[in-house]
Amino acid sequence: MRDIVRRLRRRVVRRIPLRTRRMLRARLHLGRVPLPPRELRMGGKHFQDDAEFVAKATADVQKLVAQGLTKRSRVLDWGCGAGRLAIGIIETWGTIGHYSGVDVQAPLIAWARTNLSPGRPRFEFTHVDIANARYNPAGEPVRTIPGADGSVDVFHAYSVLSHMTTDDVKGYLAEIHRLLDPRGFAWVTAFVEDDVPDEVENPPGYGPLRWSGRLHCVRFNRATFEAWISGAGLRVVDFSYGTETDGQSAYVLRR
Ligand SMILES: C[S@@+](CC[C@H](N)C(=O)[O-])C[C@H]1O[C@@H](n2cnc3c(N)ncnc32)[C@H](O)[C@@H]1O
Repeated sequence: MRDIVRRLRRRVVRRIPLRTRRMLRARLHLGRVPLPPRELRMGGKHFQDDAEFVAKATADVQKLVAQGLTKRSRVLDWGCGAGRLAIGIIETWGTIGHYSGVDVQAPLIAWARTNLSPGRPRFEFTHVDIANARYNPAGEPVRTIPGADGSVDVFHAYSVLSHMTTDDVKGYLAEIHRLLDPRGFAWVTAFVEDDVPDEVENPPGYGPLRWSGRLHCVRFNRATFEAWISGAGLRVVDFSYGTETDGQSAYVLRR
């Protein structure tokens, strides 16, 4: 009898679209992993709803899985905020080879350390006091990402290069190259378009928002941006136009 019920349940579940199944799973899992208070969530209005926050985090993990992320990977989540991707990984597998989250905002890192690391020794969060005119204007004017050469299987930067100008982007692409294991990959987002100037900060009339404050949106010419990628010794192996928050595009890069 129990077998029949189980089989029936499986048949019903299979008919529910994958997206809905993920959303339901996210709702059921709410409360299993602590979620950051709304004021510590980056991404404007996008990640305010708890179920959507978790669903997007787990969907981001699946995008990385499609490129080669596994439960054994060493992940560096640069500009990790309060650990959105870490929450997606915990929801998906509970653990991972190693996760290192790095951010310039001390309160976000403090929250993640206090709430996500205890009992999860493979999840590490590091605050770096580095300048970013939007997020940490008084920080040090350097361009470094903590980590040993070749120590990263999966480098993740969601909506980070989109808040930086040319020199920073070039400097950090070189850091990504340094950090990546030769078989690893980087997944990064950026605002890129054809037939636009090389760099425009807060381009008027572009995208879904009225940009306000320093570095809210930095848009690059796609060909120029990709020339910087090659200049840093990286190759574009996948590109999806406009698929991410507020119309950012996603790149997969390899050495
Ligand atoms: C729009 S938020 C995205 C947060 C997170 N990646 C997510 O998807 O939820 C951009 C993040 O990048 C961080 N950031 C900006 N410049 C940075 C730098 N030089 N090093 C590390 N983090 C940086 C900001 O503090 C902020 O948390």
